[in-house]
Amino acid sequence: MLLLEKNSLTEEIEELVNLMGHERSSLLPILQALQRKHKYISDFAQQEIARLLDIHPVEVYSVISFYAFLHSEPHGRNIVRLCQTITCDMAGKDAVAKAIERELGITFGQTTKDKRITLEYANCLGMCDQGPAMIVNDRVYTHLTPEKAVNILNEIK
Ligand code: FES
Repeated sequence: MLLLEKNSLTEEIEELVNLMGHERSSLLPILQALQRKHKYISDFAQQEIARLLDIHPVEVYSVISFYAFLHSEPHGRNIVRLCQTITCDMAGKDAVAKAIERELGITFGQTTKDKRITLEYANCLGMCDQGPAMIVNDRVYTHLTPEKAVNILNEIK
C-alpha cells in the first residue's frame, strides 16, 4: 500500500516536473501545485522533487520553510493565521490569541485533533489600521476582539 502511494506520488511529481520544467526556477510552482492538492509536502515528496530537479533536499525544505503557505506536515482543513506584527500586537493581539487557544484547546503552531483548524501566526496582513487582524483560509477578518474571534472560529466547519 505504502509502495503504491509512493509510486503514484512519484508519478505525480514527475508529471509536474515534465510540465513545469527541470530547472531550479520550477521548484516553487511545483511546490505550490503539490500544496494545493495535498495540503502539505511530505518528506518523501521533498526527496523526489530534489531528485528530479537534481538539487539538494535541503534546498527544497528551505523554500518550504520560507513561505508561510507551504507546509511540510499535514495541516487542518482550515488555516487560521493571526497577525503578530507590532501594530496588531499593540491593538490587542495577545488577548485574541489567548481566547482562540482557550476555545480550541491548542496553541499556535498546532492543529486540532479533528483536523478542523490549524493555528499559525502570520506577519503583517496589510490591514494594520484595522487590527488585530487574522486570515482564515483566504478571508481576512479585522477589528478582532476575543469574543469576535471565537465566534468566527465557531462558524468554521
Ligand atoms: S500589523 Fe497586523 S495587519 Fe499589519
